[in-house]
Amino acid sequence: MSHVDEIIEYYDTLAPQYHRKSGYNDLSGTHSHADRFRKLFNGRDVLEIACGTGYWTEIVAKTAKSILATDVNRSMVKQAKKRLSEVYNVEFKVSNAYSLVEIPSGFSGAFSVLWWCFMPKSRIKEFLKTLHSKLKPDSRVSFMCQLADSDAGNHLPDSNGNMIARRMINNRYYSIIKNIPSEEELRNTLAPISTDLKYSKYPVDGLWSVSYSIL
Ligand SMILES: C[S@@+](CC[C@H](N)C(=O)[O-])C[C@H]1O[C@@H](n2cnc3c(N)ncnc32)[C@H](O)[C@@H]1O
Repeated sequence: MSHVDEIIEYYDTLAPQYHRKSGYNDLSGTHSHADRFRKLFNGRDVLEIACGTGYWTEIVAKTAKSILATDVNRSMVKQAKKRLSEVYNVEFKVSNAYSLVEIPSGFSGAFSVLWWCFMPKSRIKEFLKTLHSKLKPDSRVSFMCQLADSDAGNHLPDSNGNMIARRMINNRYYSIIKNIPSEEELRNTLAPISTDLKYSKYPVDGLWSVSYSIL
């Protein structure tokens, strides 16, 4: 099984517990980055990638004009739909981030939280090309993902330069890509296809974030 498929299966299995295990029940809407995301997408038609149970969807929906929230796992989308059934400006769709089949174009914003680190390095450009094809010029894009944590020392490299973490759920081990890009790597990847690129590290939260406009 490819690493991409293994991540999909891992999160499919985790879906019923994901919201609680992520501490989202206690955080409802009060994440330290919530205001920043609400401002970034104020008034925009937003495409969200890998929405999971919709924690960030709910936050961004407060100010966005509309959100189409996508995730490859039906099990995740089911949880998100149930939680956000009364949020009028959100729609959900099951879709793979690398192909975004059946996703229309014409969005003015896009974001994804806790997704970038799971991409094999070899598929990042393909993902960005597909994502940007759905966006209008001047769209604002943001990604936020994890910095190296205490577990990072246990991750092992594969033969393609990806770092692999081992995770166990329901008595089965999964090999999960966990690449932590440096600021330089992100800038090298994004600079040729973006403008007004801003990168920030938030060590207290264990997160990095990048935002930019597309050309
Ligand atoms: C760590 S969770 C993040 C969920 C949510 N964004 C959050 O911040 O809580 C990673 C998500 O990526 C989704 N995912 C994994 N592979 C994917 C793919 N190829 N395309 C779209 N979503 C994918 C999983 O189903 C899971 O919901």
